Amino acid sequence: MKIGVIGTGYVGLIQAVGLAHLGFKVVAYDIDSSKIEILKKGTPPIYEKGLKELLHQNRERIIFTSSVEDLKGSEVVFVCVGTPQDAKGKANLNFVFSAIESLKPLLTGKEIVVLKSTVPVGTNRKVQKFVGNKAFVVSNPEFLREGIAVDDFFNPERVVLGFGENHPKWVMEKMLKIYEYFLKKEVPFVVTNWESAELIKYASNTFLAMKISFINELARLSEKVGADIKDVAKGMGLDSRIGNKFLNAGIGWGGSCFPKDVSALIWQFKEWEIEPKLPKATKEINEEQILWFLNKIRKHYGGNLSGTFALLGLAFKPYTDDLRESPSLKLAEMLIEEGAFVKGYDYIEGARKNVKKLVEVKTSTRYSYGLIVCDELKTAVEGVDGVIIAVEYKEWNRENWKEISKLVRNKALFDGRNILKEELIRELIKDGWHYEGVGVKPK
Ligand code: UGA
Repeated sequence: MKIGVIGTGYVGLIQAVGLAHLGFKVVAYDIDSSKIEILKKGTPPIYEKGLKELLHQNRERIIFTSSVEDLKGSEVVFVCVGTPQDAKGKANLNFVFSAIESLKPLLTGKEIVVLKSTVPVGTNRKVQKFVGNKAFVVSNPEFLREGIAVDDFFNPERVVLGFGENHPKWVMEKMLKIYEYFLKKEVPFVVTNWESAELIKYASNTFLAMKISFINELARLSEKVGADIKDVAKGMGLDSRIGNKFLNAGIGWGGSCFPKDVSALIWQFKEWEIEPKLPKATKEINEEQILWFLNKIRKHYGGNLSGTFALLGLAFKPYTDDLRESPSLKLAEMLIEEGAFVKGYDYIEGARKNVKKLVEVKTSTRYSYGLIVCDELKTAVEGVDGVIIAVEYKEWNRENWKEISKLVRNKALFDGRNILKEELIRELIKDGWHYEGVGVKPK
């Protein structure tokens, strides 16, 4: 079966390479010909663990193209283009509709068009109306996590499929055939209507973001009352109804999905004139969290942030080069705004490169003058007045803190992700470090 994929970003590229690995012939189309040229050479334009190897392994089963006609003859076409938020926070569907518009002349009435892009409730119905009887539209939201997306593709926790009420039976049968590998692995399938499938995606991301915002807000109380948020989260998480995941307090959530999806869900509630109380609070708490953390740092320096800081971690989370809505970079901007000089470091080379590019682009602004990217941790911590951990790499625990102690000017450590282990924190405090986490009480 020939399968088409439109869009070779995080979602589309993994989908294309993953399906090729499962044995399908895949045509991956992207409007961006420079991206396609890079892919033709066998290099993924993004960093994702295992992706390069998987691409090499399945190279002969994928055609990368910037010519939409090459999608002709695909029985199923996955639409995996971006749905960024517009100025109001609403999902912008321009990319989705322009993809469908260019695909439409190639459709013959026997194809399935699958929307993998995260789209507001009602979009699949609109797309079906737009293509008329030239194709059958299916909703199939993705749940890949950046950094471990390849692993997530092959080991999903569920597959969600949404169909129109008038779809013939063969449409579902064909979708199940494509995902036979997962059926055999006994991955749970949720087969439902378009609207439910669309809502599952927004509800899942917003719920996860809400869990984080809840623990972050609780961390502020913990600090006041003398509780330790890590113990609180542990105690809560042991209740299987709550679960221990996404209960790590920190400087907040970022990335290409949570911020835009929470905003888009808020918008959908408003369109139906329902007050989006929890999604709104989830967003507000997240916006406050960095300020709350910055305030802790500010307090330590008596209100004066004109020193130099090492910022450990730059991307929005570990093992990615994606900087979108990175809490670390937001913190950098705020520190610089208050007169600080920031030396940033991230383990992922691509993340460092991307921040360097950003600094170059912003070269005429104050921002660029206050941030430099170091290629080594040593250089980043040398002579600083404080070290700030902004991304939750466990690897910070394995660094040589004795050496770092000698390199810094002032032993102040702000762990914005509560990632350092108790034992290390104890050693650091013994060595004269001032340690501050998020809602924790060093023991
Ligand atoms: C998220 C979802 O987890 C995926 O299931 C979904 O498919 C994806 O969005 C999407 O819609 O495409 P992702 O954006 O890759 O995945 O990132 P997460 O791992 O969910 O992390 C999001 C943010 O939350 C990061 O900034 C992370 O540092 C933060 N976080 C996470 C916390 O602050 N605390 C936690 O306990 C967990």
